[in-house]
Amino acid sequence: MAEENVKNQELMDKLVSLCKRRGFVFPSSEIYGGINGFWDYGPYGARMKRAIENLWWHEMVETRDNVEGLDSTIICHPRVWKASGHLDQFSDLMTDCRNCKSRYRVDQMEDPTTCPNCGSKDLTEPREFNLMMKTFVGPVFDEEHAAYLRAETCQPIFVDFHSVRVATRQKIPFGIAQIGKAFRNEINPRNFTFRSREFTQMEMEFFCEEAQGMEFFEYWKEQRINYYRNKLKFKDDFFRIYVHEKLAHYAKAAIDIEVKFPFGWGELEGVHHRGTWDLSRHSEFSGEDLSYMDHDNHRKFMPTVIETSVGLDRTMLALLSAAYDEEKAATAKEGMEEDTRIVMHLPPLVAPIQVAVLPQSKKLKESAYALYKEIDRHFRAEYDDTGSIGKRYRRQDEIGTPYCICYDFESGNDNCVTVRDRDTMLQDRVNVTQLRDYLEKKIEA
Ligand code: GAP
Repeated sequence: MAEENVKNQELMDKLVSLCKRRGFVFPSSEIYGGINGFWDYGPYGARMKRAIENLWWHEMVETRDNVEGLDSTIICHPRVWKASGHLDQFSDLMTDCRNCKSRYRVDQMEDPTTCPNCGSKDLTEPREFNLMMKTFVGPVFDEEHAAYLRAETCQPIFVDFHSVRVATRQKIPFGIAQIGKAFRNEINPRNFTFRSREFTQMEMEFFCEEAQGMEFFEYWKEQRINYYRNKLKFKDDFFRIYVHEKLAHYAKAAIDIEVKFPFGWGELEGVHHRGTWDLSRHSEFSGEDLSYMDHDNHRKFMPTVIETSVGLDRTMLALLSAAYDEEKAATAKEGMEEDTRIVMHLPPLVAPIQVAVLPQSKKLKESAYALYKEIDRHFRAEYDDTGSIGKRYRRQDEIGTPYCICYDFESGNDNCVTVRDRDTMLQDRVNVTQLRDYLEKKIEA
């Protein structure tokens, strides 16, 4: 575990630095000084993010007959946010320090009468601050034309419930899933990407009868825990379940899946039993009846909803924090001092590069590159022939590539290559005809 090797703050600093250096994540608009709470994903970050999205989509939609996908707009009719309660209630209490001009969320202050930055007691009265981001639709910038960037991806799922059901002829129980951007004007964005102002959510709303609600709540809770354990390879001491005792008035049960981030435990995903609240509210505010007609049993009812909701940016941060490690390694040449191997133990399913092809020498470029092109059809692959082979292995370790293939001077004769395992650094000699099968088994394991 990373925590055993490096201290937490240090780990965070190292992670931020690695993310910048190797093109995972960097501040948005950096050449203009950045913009607080906004982050860009560089080439490896974008690949990894896409891989996580694809994995989630595959697990939640593609492999299930009873979950449909949706891709709705970011800007919806403003009444959506009135019905959901966001316009009236989605706010935090904030206070400003009159002395140093810092701004805080009151619920995050240890002592809400003293400025944590300068120690001044001269703070403004706490006041409500709505987190919805506002814009205007059309050329007139007045309240009548105000609209909001969605604060969560689930609301359009409720709004489109009827259309999706009719289009797909799904019967209850079934779910609708969506991946997309959400926006919140967080007062204090912090902890790298953990609390951002623009982020991606992956949400699934599962519609069922009230009597099945708790059964499906337990089912989805287990499904999601299995996903973290088996697909994202979370270790038991890396995550925990927080059971909500104080519930929203409409909710029947709620848990959070929390992760040990370098700055402490933090929420990664929520699995919530939301009752009939959302569909009832949208029926009331839109005037459209969103209840479900069960033709088999001649019954009409408002479906109960079980939600699974996870942040993609937080998933990445969790994976990157769990993956970071530093190992003392002896350099290849005898007599040289020990050096440090920075290695990201990322799960092969979501590593930005799964296989790197590295010729022993540039003279082997033609054959090695042809092999790379073949591998690249099946895996996220990269070709690199610059610098010594040792340096190239280290570069791949640092971005978390689980398998490096070395094409050497023997390869042309025996049709075999050496496959190096990132974690054990052990090497296997594999026939090129067996390579795809070999790698698939390892990556899926
Ligand atoms: N539809 C339910 C919902 O949106 P939430 O707990 O507010 O619930 C769900 O958000 C998930 O979205 C969180 O568990 C977290 O992973 C992610 N998330 C929420 N706010 C975030 C922020 N400011 N920055 C990054 N991720 C965030």
